[in-house]
Amino acid sequence: MIEISDITYGYDEKIIFKDFKYFIKKGEFLMVFGKNGSGKSTLAKLITGIAISDKGKILIDGLDTSTDDIWEIRRSLGVIFQNPEDQFVGTTVLEEMTFILENYDEIDICEKIDEALRKVNLIDKKNEEIDYLSGGQKQKLALASALLLKPKFLVLDEASSMLDPKSRKELLILLKKLNEDGVTIIYITHYLEEITYASRCLLLDEGRIIKDDLPSIFLEEDLLRYNLMIPFHLKLLMRLNKKNKLRKDFRLENSQSVVDEICQYL
Ligand SMILES: Nc1ncnc2c1ncn2[C@@H]1O[C@H](COP(=O)(O)OP(=O)(O)O)[C@@H](O)[C@H]1O
Ligand SMILES: [Mg+2]
Repeated sequence: MIEISDITYGYDEKIIFKDFKYFIKKGEFLMVFGKNGSGKSTLAKLITGIAISDKGKILIDGLDTSTDDIWEIRRSLGVIFQNPEDQFVGTTVLEEMTFILENYDEIDICEKIDEALRKVNLIDKKNEEIDYLSGGQKQKLALASALLLKPKFLVLDEASSMLDPKSRKELLILLKKLNEDGVTIIYITHYLEEITYASRCLLLDEGRIIKDDLPSIFLEEDLLRYNLMIPFHLKLLMRLNKKNKLRKDFRLENSQSVVDEICQYL
């Protein structure tokens, strides 16, 4: 469980979070969204202990990010950013993963690496140079590297934003599977169609919680009011809904379900 209690944090004179409270339960797949500058990355930095607030505290399974507990927290919490290459130190996939495990004095290195690479479908690239991987494969490597330490939590900050739609979907399906295996996921995104994968969604604006609910509760007005990028298939669904052409309960569907529904009327 992640408990954020009354934190206040900002940069120079600008306060982003003021007496901010939030709880994330074990097993959740939380999606955090909001327009640029709403504080999403700052929240990720606070949860992962990269940033420490002066006021209030953040506990990860009871361990405080502002104390020496951070080393133990880092073992249980994987982080993936938008540009994974900034995090890589190895030349090849295998080197990268070996380096991580050696750092933690782990045994059975080969077996653990193979297991993690198989989980993300990257086993056939084990000896490949990282520079030759595609964007999606690099993100899979970042995920496999995080999985080596069997994290209880995974924090992903816009991890899919550089990926093409197919790789984005693959990444989300992988995360969904990990979540079903018990990993708590905190996924920051500005792609609205992705929120259907979540068990809960948090909409932030200027460090404030605007809405915190099930994905199906988020409505067109939320999306329009907070200037969020609305994917084409949702715009189409909204427009058709207004013309009473489709059922009334607007939800953040995936594109396939919208296609299926429209086809029924043709
Ligand atoms: N290192 C920094 N120094 C100064 N201001 C920052 C820094 N990082 C972020 N900010 C400011 O904090 C606010 C929240 O940023 P951020 O958490 O990156 O939002 P998001 O990830 O939602 O785009 C923005 O107004 C941004 O300009
Ligand atoms: Mg950000």
